[in-house]
Amino acid sequence: MKKYPMAEKYDQKWVEENWMGPNPLILLEELCGNLKLTPNMKVLDMGCGKGLTSVFLAKEFGVTVFANDLWIDPSENLERFEAAGVSDKVFPVRAEAHALPFANNFFDAVISIDSYHYYGACEMYFPCVFSRLVKPGGQLGIVNPGLTEEFENGYPPNMKSFWLKPSAEGELFSFHSAAWWRNLWEKTEIAEITSSYNIPDSKEIWYPWAYWAQKNFKIKFGLESDDVEFLEADTENKIALIVMTAVKRSK
Ligand SMILES: C[S@@+](CC[C@H](N)C(=O)[O-])C[C@H]1O[C@@H](n2cnc3c(N)ncnc32)[C@H](O)[C@@H]1O
Repeated sequence: MKKYPMAEKYDQKWVEENWMGPNPLILLEELCGNLKLTPNMKVLDMGCGKGLTSVFLAKEFGVTVFANDLWIDPSENLERFEAAGVSDKVFPVRAEAHALPFANNFFDAVISIDSYHYYGACEMYFPCVFSRLVKPGGQLGIVNPGLTEEFENGYPPNMKSFWLKPSAEGELFSFHSAAWWRNLWEKTEIAEITSSYNIPDSKEIWYPWAYWAQKNFKIKFGLESDDVEFLEADTENKIALIVMTAVKRSK
């Protein structure tokens, strides 16, 4: 598997205490390979969860981060930012993705790790919300779980049950291919796409989280995680982690 030297510097115990999906620092390091972040840029970390990625952005690139999330209490995130020594550079915010308290054209970059698919698969979200946050010439970047290709003939037989079970999480219905995501943004002509691809080692990156969740979800959250079964059922390699970056055009 490809090396992620920046992500690997961070204490794995700290990562495992706070991750909410496949190692977000690895996903962010992959994303940042396609972005140009320089000190003091203003960056929105959308759906930052427990803020691991926000800490990483401040420490690795010296940017100022607005760490926005819905499910996680911003006061808890502030404690994590203080403990990590970045509370002068990272500002916790709690806002729903459709009700963000930021001015248009405010950010130099907006990024989202393992979160954009919860709200951004809606056709309106990119032109009417996400792209407006960033200034002309500013950068946009997301990493989502998704598909290696769209399902044109129903769900793959081995995986069907994950989509069709009555308790299926809405999240799966917003899994799409890199080409699908690219078209969603590209056709708006608001931004030039600078990268769009499947991370080659997607499942190797995902499995450690899946095994951790299988072991810890019940104890920590009283829930079952079926990520291991989900990945094992993917015998046709339809599942991937998708990267996309873009630069907002100047009008
Ligand atoms: C799977 S977690 C990933 C968190 C973090 N980026 C990470 O990788 O550890 C998805 C995050 O998206 C956020 N999210 C989901 N729907 C949202 C919405 N409508 N508005 C804002 N944030 C949302 C949740 O609060 C959650 O923390």
